[in-house]
Amino acid sequence: MKKYALGLDIGTSGVKGIIIDDDGTTVALATEEYPLSTPKPNWAEQDPEDWWRASVKVIRKLTLGRGKSRGIINAVGFSGQMHSMVLLDARDKVLRPAILWCDTRTDAECRWIHETIGRQKLRELVGNPALEGFTLPKLVWVKNQEPRVYQRIKKVLLPKDYIRYRLTGGFATEVSDASGTLLFDVSHRRWSEVMLQTLSLSREWFPTVSESTDVSGKITTYAAEETGLQAGTPVAGGGADNASGAVGSGVVKNGRVLASIGTSGVVLAHSDGYQVDPEMRVHTFCHSVPSRWYVMGVVLMAGGALRWFKDTFASNDFKQARSKGADVYDMIADGARKTPPGAEGLQFLPYLIGERTPHQSASARASFVGASIRHTKDHFARSVFEGITFAMRDSFEIIKSLGIPIEQVRLTGGGARNKFWRKLQADIYGQEVVTVNTTEGPALGAALMAGVASGIFENLVEAVERVVKITETTEPDVRNSESYNQSYELFRETYSHLEPVYMKMHQRSNAQERSHSSNKT
Ligand code: XUL
Repeated sequence: MKKYALGLDIGTSGVKGIIIDDDGTTVALATEEYPLSTPKPNWAEQDPEDWWRASVKVIRKLTLGRGKSRGIINAVGFSGQMHSMVLLDARDKVLRPAILWCDTRTDAECRWIHETIGRQKLRELVGNPALEGFTLPKLVWVKNQEPRVYQRIKKVLLPKDYIRYRLTGGFATEVSDASGTLLFDVSHRRWSEVMLQTLSLSREWFPTVSESTDVSGKITTYAAEETGLQAGTPVAGGGADNASGAVGSGVVKNGRVLASIGTSGVVLAHSDGYQVDPEMRVHTFCHSVPSRWYVMGVVLMAGGALRWFKDTFASNDFKQARSKGADVYDMIADGARKTPPGAEGLQFLPYLIGERTPHQSASARASFVGASIRHTKDHFARSVFEGITFAMRDSFEIIKSLGIPIEQVRLTGGGARNKFWRKLQADIYGQEVVTVNTTEGPALGAALMAGVASGIFENLVEAVERVVKITETTEPDVRNSESYNQSYELFRETYSHLEPVYMKMHQRSNAQERSHSSNKT
């Protein structure tokens, strides 16, 4: 009899679900969206109840659509947005809206953590610096700004682990997601007692930790009634969305690197051993492959910068594309392709909301530099594609400098869909890039982990090799690569000149905001 595994990705814009069979073939797909709330500048919050409602709907759509085989799901696995924080009280009720990974209210808290623990000590204890997106700064913010909420905390959970709790009644997480809290000893794959003690945080607040492919609970009778799953179905640890996406794209061996362009861009290199950038410009997290790690750089606005360009400057293309039934991004890329590499000296820095890798700066902003009377909208489009890809290359350079091998770059997301962008990536990275037969990255990764936990697959590497296949290879063009190397140097130099300007602009807008709010009171 066929066996089935269900993967659920609790993302920022919605839940995506997949059912695969024991050959790894996709049998069903479903999605359900929810809103993102931004009550103040730099804030990003969500209601965990929305995740739950969407998860139930997705599981129902997946299981009900399967006719006779309804209910026969052998295991469930999760993937989820990283770092976002859910707080529960003594009755396991949500205390306040979840503060998300893309929320940057915690500038002061990050500075406080660096002063209290020390940057080098953080490197030793947790392998990563305090960044606004990570969980610990959010917890410190609640302590400082919402002491009444803080006093009532009994549990601190990540998004997918909250859904696990609703499905299994248990509190558990796994190594890949725990890695993004800044309270996890990534090297030894356990909570950092030193961090917890130094910051007087209760150990009881944090769930037990397993590997991604371990069973971490079973579906309760109540959850079975709600979802249509069978009570007792095993639930796997699952993984952070980036780890799960890497699994779903086959990045489970040394030499393989994922270049994923969604709203944000991620360059993720598998590493058999624990390696940390001495300057911590890239993150080091536990992989979902047991006893393995990955090193990752994050570009905050990658596909997001292209979408911004489309919305702001290409609304006519959008209308035209709609009337022809074409893809607007393909139309923008077609225009860009007509201009020469380097966009005749026009540069774009994609730092619309600051940048994580390599600058770790909330004040960086986007810029077009070098515009002349010759430049057309197509040049601007080309500079946007190039600027995003140069920002991705920054992470490649750091990963290379750590001695981590880059043999094969696997593209996923929007950057994999367009031929022009695939070629541009090959030329700018100076690497062969490939696409794979799977597009459901994180949800598929979660389903594969569920498959391993329930014995459908022997282990994650075997599962991946069976399911994920290369579909297309693009080689770099040596002449283009040489020309892009020079443009890339200029891109870096431009940032270093603009950095002090961005800082001044940031200070000025902060001061203006302060005076604006004091005038209001
Ligand atoms: C990774 C990160 C994002 C989120 C998106 O550090 O912040 O990629 O995981 O869900």
